[in-house]
Amino acid sequence: MKKLTGKTCLVTGAARGIGEAIARAFKDEGATVILTDVDVEAGEALAKELQSRFFRLDVSDEADWLRFAEEVPTLDVVVNNAGITGFETSDGIAPPAHDPENASLDAWRAVHAVNLDGTFLGCRYAIRAMRAKKTGSIINISSRSGMVGIPMAAAYASSKAAIRNHTKSVALYCAGQGLAIRCNSIHPAAVMTPMWEPMLGDGPEREAREAAFVADTPLRRFGQPSEVAALAVLLASDDATYMTGSELTIDGGILAGSAAAPG
Ligand SMILES: NC(=O)c1ccc[n+]([C@@H]2O[C@H](COP(=O)([O-])OP(=O)(O)OC[C@H]3O[C@@H](n4cnc5c(N)ncnc54)[C@H](O)[C@@H]3O)[C@@H](O)[C@H]2O)c1
Repeated sequence: MKKLTGKTCLVTGAARGIGEAIARAFKDEGATVILTDVDVEAGEALAKELQSRFFRLDVSDEADWLRFAEEVPTLDVVVNNAGITGFETSDGIAPPAHDPENASLDAWRAVHAVNLDGTFLGCRYAIRAMRAKKTGSIINISSRSGMVGIPMAAAYASSKAAIRNHTKSVALYCAGQGLAIRCNSIHPAAVMTPMWEPMLGDGPEREAREAAFVADTPLRRFGQPSEVAALAVLLASDDATYMTGSELTIDGGILAGSAAAPG
């Protein structure tokens, strides 16, 4: 018996990376998957391969969510996965500063608009879409960066910390309403997806940069998107019906210790 048979699941930011891996894993587990993204070309191509529906949905755009709700008024699982670091640039333009001293208000807001506003709108949509059945699973992709300070990516860290907290508000709200709508957050550390490309770059030093990024990770490697997807399958499934408001780290052990821990 597959774990998600009979469930209709939305994944945002599903065109690539972790979202793509979650969409694939959900499909493998028997779910009906709905993919959304702002990258229409890649999203439609993946949806065709998975024989799924694709919608263009900018998670930070309330009008997009309202239109989507008209098309898909009810479902069982929502994965709020779409997110940006703020370092995405096109054609070699240097990314803006994201440290607390030099970041612009625009750069700060742009990251929060996608990561935090997008998750708020996704949770709001999900509660409304699950209310009739009184049951469902909302999965918010936060980050290890939501649990520690990240000086050079302050907006990203702030937005991910707020997602962690909002997850708990949603979980308590739903439980208080007598709904079996669960809401949990997943906190990956470095997972090898296209998100890392601007930070890793090309050329002979790429390998050294990769190693440097995971030098403090006890398992000494990047995670794989499929490893995050496996957790999303668990939270989406009826194996996790007593889990709500919880935060699951998937980080190669990095949060288990600290720089001050004895070697
Ligand atoms: N890769 C990692 O190391 C890592 C670690 C921790 C958390 N995360 C989180 O996991 C999630 C997925 O990350 P990823 O590494 O797969 O990133 P990615 O950049 O590879 O993919 C993100 C996807 O989101 C889409 N997207 C961007 N802005 C959007 C918007 N406004 N509306 C809808 N879709 C949008 C992109 O088009 C892309 O398809 C993000 O929330 C990210 O913060 C990633």
